[in-house]
Formats: sequence, structure tokens, C-alpha cells
Amino acid sequence: MKPAFVFGTRPEIIKLAPVIRAFEERGIDPLLIHTGQHYDYEMSKIFLEELELHRIDYHLEVGSGTQAYQTGTAMIKIEEVLMKEKPDVSLVQGDTNTVLAGALASVKLKIPVAHVEAGLRSFDRTMPEEINRILADHASEILFAPTEEAKKNLEREGISEGVYVVGNTIVDAVLQNSEIAERKSKILDELGLRPKEYAVLTAHRAENTDSEENLKKLVEIIESLPITVIYPVHPRTEKRLKSLDLWDRLEQKAHVILTKPLGYLDFLKLQKNAKFVLTDSGGIQEESIILNVPCLTLRYNTERPETIKAGGNVLVGLEKGRVLYYVDRLLNDKEFYEKMESAKNPFGDGRSGERIVEILFNLYNKGELKVRS
Ligand code: UD1
Ligand code: UDP
Repeated sequence: MKPAFVFGTRPEIIKLAPVIRAFEERGIDPLLIHTGQHYDYEMSKIFLEELELHRIDYHLEVGSGTQAYQTGTAMIKIEEVLMKEKPDVSLVQGDTNTVLAGALASVKLKIPVAHVEAGLRSFDRTMPEEINRILADHASEILFAPTEEAKKNLEREGISEGVYVVGNTIVDAVLQNSEIAERKSKILDELGLRPKEYAVLTAHRAENTDSEENLKKLVEIIESLPITVIYPVHPRTEKRLKSLDLWDRLEQKAHVILTKPLGYLDFLKLQKNAKFVLTDSGGIQEESIILNVPCLTLRYNTERPETIKAGGNVLVGLEKGRVLYYVDRLLNDKEFYEKMESAKNPFGDGRSGERIVEILFNLYNKGELKVRS
């Protein structure tokens, strides 16, 4: 079998690495296509190095741009590679523009698409990610849903064939890397932090950064936090904060530590030892429940409702009062803290990568790895 992986952003590298590794363990070196949607060292290469993805077969250098420019350019460049390489299956992960481009380019060449992390829905079509998820799912033959809830979302849209509930590969990534992170990362010493005496924050979603009003709300929340907060800033947010003169305002606060985006080992160590996490990231909502760290999500909806149901995550939006209420409870209400901390991980056992590869091999051997007519 000749599988091709199409990826281009930080979370895709992290979540696909366990699947790539599972293929390698079965003696297959898959084709690796990096669109270059993320291109800064701290957003891409550091993860390829840390996760030992030393060979990238094609670097497409798509870069940044509008939604259509980025998706369209990626599609054209991915198509060229797929036409030349003729893989048996294309694997994409998640909900970025790279995923949509990879899925569309592939299915139109009659190369079946396997969508890892299929079936997530925020039910908010104003998010670019929601459009990407829906379209990628509908272009895919094989849908690796992380949970039963995701499977139900697909059923509701009429997709029932080719769906496999396999867990989320983020559990594989966390289990494979958190001990290494604990051992290797010196991030706590470097930042002068002690375990459970600080919070970690990340924010990069378009709805939180593109709107000046929302970004200001975010800054006011950070300024008001009654605990040391470490914020590794996504380049998108750094640019916006600087252009709106908000960066210096945050930097001047004694309890706020702004850093560049961190590598996976440093970030995992930081997250694992945090008192709690504030984020608008999808992957970090998942990781925090896996690591038993309470999570407050700076959004009004989530495509990871399992984390809320399990009790490890609360949607706080950008309402300062609501955020500070939950922060206060996490800091001062021991019973509340312990309940959130002990929420059970709903994303599986960390063997999703193996499962995905096993399923693909079975389909391939039966001659069923093809685009349905
Ligand atoms: C993308 C995904 C988002 C995902 C996130 C992971 C889409 C629509 N969005 O958002 O779902 O959560 O990746 O981090 O695909 N930039 C740099 N250097 C880089 C990359 C980006 O400076 O290496 C800056 C550029 O100014 C760029 C902006 O960040 O315009 C946004 O990058 P883009 O890839 O379009 O979206 P993300 O916000 O990263
Ligand atoms: N991450 C990281 N360094 C950082 C911030 C995040 O390694 O400075 C990791 C994090 O552990 C998670 C993934 O990046 O696995 C989440 O990516 P991001 O928040 O960019 O995207 P999303 O998951 O929202 O699509």
C-alpha cells in the first residue's frame, strides 16, 4: 500500500505523527506532503524535529493568504504531486485549509481520502474550520471519528458508510511524548515557574483575533487574572496585538509572561504542570483533559462537547466576569478543582494510530480502498 499524508499546520503534524509512526512500524514509509500553511520554525520545523519526521517528500510552500488563495494554491500544488505519485489513499487530519485542499484534490483524482478526526461539529458555520470539516467529511471515503458523538454528527448528515470510531490520535501523541517532555524540557526552570502555581493561555482563533473588540476583551481578561499566566503567542495573534498597540500593554504586566510559540515538549510540560489552562485551541481542550488539567475555553461553542460533558472543560467565552468567576473557583474551591481535574478522558486509549493503519490495511487487502461510485 502507498499512503500519502497531506498536512501543513502545527496541530496536523502533532496528530498525524502517531499514524505515520504506525505505518513505519509495519514497514511502510508513507509519502509526506507538507503544504507549508505554517512555515515559521516554531510553527512547523520544530515539531518535525521533535517528532522525528526527518523526511518530508514534498514541501509545497503555500504560505499565508486569504481563505481562497491558501486553499486554492494548496489544491493546485497537491494535485500535481498526487498525479505524479498516484498513492492508494490520502490521509488528512482535522479542519484546516490544508485539509480541505488535500481532500478535494485527492477525491477528484479518484484517490480515496481518509479523514482523521472526522465528524467534529461546532454548528457554527461562521468558522472557516466548520466549513472545512463538513466539506472534507463529505469528500472522504474513510472517516476516522474520534468518538461516538462524532459518528452521530456524520450520521445526521447522511454519512454512515466508511465510518470507524478509533479515538483521537492526540491521546497517542500525549502518551508518546509526555514522559519525554517531563525528562527533557527545562521550560519551568527557564521561566522561573513552580508546578501548579501558574496558568497557561493560548488564543489564535479568527473570531478572537480578527475582531478588535474581541482581542481587547481577551487582553482585559489576561490583565485581570489573579495568577501568573504564560502565553505562548501564535504569530497571527502577535501581529494583531502589535498592530493594535496591545502587546506592550500585556508585556508590562508583572504576572504575564509572553513567549514565542513553544515546541511540543516544552508546551506539554508547561501544560501538564499548570494549575489550569485558558484556550481557544481545539487540540489543547483535548490535551488538558488527557493530562488532568482543568480547561476554560475562551469560546462560545466547541466541537469537543465530550470534554464539557466529562466535566473537564467549561465554555467561558470572552466574558470577563464569567472567566474570573471560574478562575476564582479553580483557585479557591478545592472540591470544584478536584472534580474538574479528575474528569475522564473521552478520546480513547492512545492506540488510534495503530487502529487507523490496521483498518486501512484490511480495506486495501480486500480491494476496498477506492472512491465509491
Ligand atoms: C490555522 C487553521 C486553524 C488552526 C491553526 C493551528 C485554517 C482556516 N485555520 O489557523 O484551524 O487551529 O492553523 O495553529 O486553516 N503566520 C505566520 N507564520 C506561520 C503561520 C502563520 O506568521 O508559520 C501568520 C500569518 O500572518 C498568517 C496568519 O498567521 O496570515 C494566519 O495563519 P493561517 O495558517 O492562515 O491560519 P491560523 O490562524 O494559523
Ligand atoms: N502547541 C505547542 N506549542 C504552543 C501551542 C500549542 O506545541 O506554543 C500544541 C498543543 O500542545 C496542541 C497543538 O499545538 O497539541 C494545538 O495547536 P493549535 O492550538 O495551534 O491548533 P488547534 O488545535 O486549535 O487547531
